[in-house]
Amino acid sequence: MVLKAAVIGVGMMGRNHARVYAQMEHATLVAAADLDTAALEPIARTYKINVYTDYIQMLEAEKPDLVSIAVPTRLHREVALAVMQRGIHVFLEKPISASVEEGQEIVDCAKKEGVKLAVGHIERFNPAIIELKRLLDAGQLGRIFQIHARRVGPFPPRVEDVGVVIDLATHELNLLEYLTGSQVESVYAEIEREIHATHEDLLTGILKFKDGTVGILDINWLTPTKIRELSLIGERGMFSVNYLTQDLYFYENDYLNGHWEGLAIMGVSEGRRIRHNIKRKEPLVAELESFVQAVADDTEPQIGGEEALRAVLLAQRLLESGRKREVVWV
Ligand SMILES: NC(=O)c1ccc[n+]([C@@H]2O[C@H](COP(=O)([O-])OP(=O)(O)OC[C@H]3O[C@@H](n4cnc5c(N)ncnc54)[C@H](O)[C@@H]3O)[C@@H](O)[C@H]2O)c1
Repeated sequence: MVLKAAVIGVGMMGRNHARVYAQMEHATLVAAADLDTAALEPIARTYKINVYTDYIQMLEAEKPDLVSIAVPTRLHREVALAVMQRGIHVFLEKPISASVEEGQEIVDCAKKEGVKLAVGHIERFNPAIIELKRLLDAGQLGRIFQIHARRVGPFPPRVEDVGVVIDLATHELNLLEYLTGSQVESVYAEIEREIHATHEDLLTGILKFKDGTVGILDINWLTPTKIRELSLIGERGMFSVNYLTQDLYFYENDYLNGHWEGLAIMGVSEGRRIRHNIKRKEPLVAELESFVQAVADDTEPQIGGEEALRAVLLAQRLLESGRKREVVWV
């Protein structure tokens, strides 16, 4: 069966959803909606589909099986509810919402309507992250001591509705709990607004996980080059991931290879650098294929509403910590 897919909001992100659905085997792109006719025009021309400036009209006329929503975050609740109340499955871009309260309404509505709700935590479909998780679960790092995420770059002027904590830190908050398999129990944040008109644009955060792992978040919209990196140190060495190039390296702690036996030296020493071979894939393709599969098979999406909501809750705790300048317990 080929499912009918539509996209609401074909700006920077949504136009990529349209491209991916148009090339999919088990779904086909039937329509798109956006308030901006200039955004719709190339979509209509490229994919020869109907386009609408009113998304409600699109839902009524096209009756899609599933919809990707990629409108600005402040509109997620309103648009997601309207789609789900028509019995249509939703893929909602991340973050699920700007606040926990709105996110909860979205989660509750999906349950009430009995529709699938997937949220776009795209890095979970990054092949380097998938391989890293496999290696961590296999015990390659041993106990994790510290996990350090760096997500910095220039300010995207189109993001007006939320700050960098809700917009970007939510990626890492979801990933760090997933990778450690442990929950954040407390947070401390230094948060600044340097150039953004209304919201914070710099976060330096410290997380403490229930299993003792320390997390560091270095996230901002103030860096003139885009950097997306993650490193984890643990008993057996260090993993380093570049999200953008999908590179994964392991720096071995040579001490564990026994070369130092007999010497009165304890601890850590520099060993081999191992580059893991990653089969690269566009994360958005993997993510939307996984969603379409969940709809077709009637199974739970890989990253659902509850998990996405947890990332927003942690982001709000960071904001609270930044305001109070004290440690906040989750
Ligand atoms: N997963 C990721 O890595 C990632 C990356 C970028 C953006 N996003 C998310 O995607 C969402 C959109 O971000 P973007 O960067 O594409 O923004 P954007 O401003 O480029 O695009 C948003 C589009 O929504 C349209 N729109 C606004 N109100 C609408 C309405 N009522 N009906 C129909 N269309 C409407 C706008 O005209 C615009 O074309 C945000 O929630 C953002 O957080 C996720």
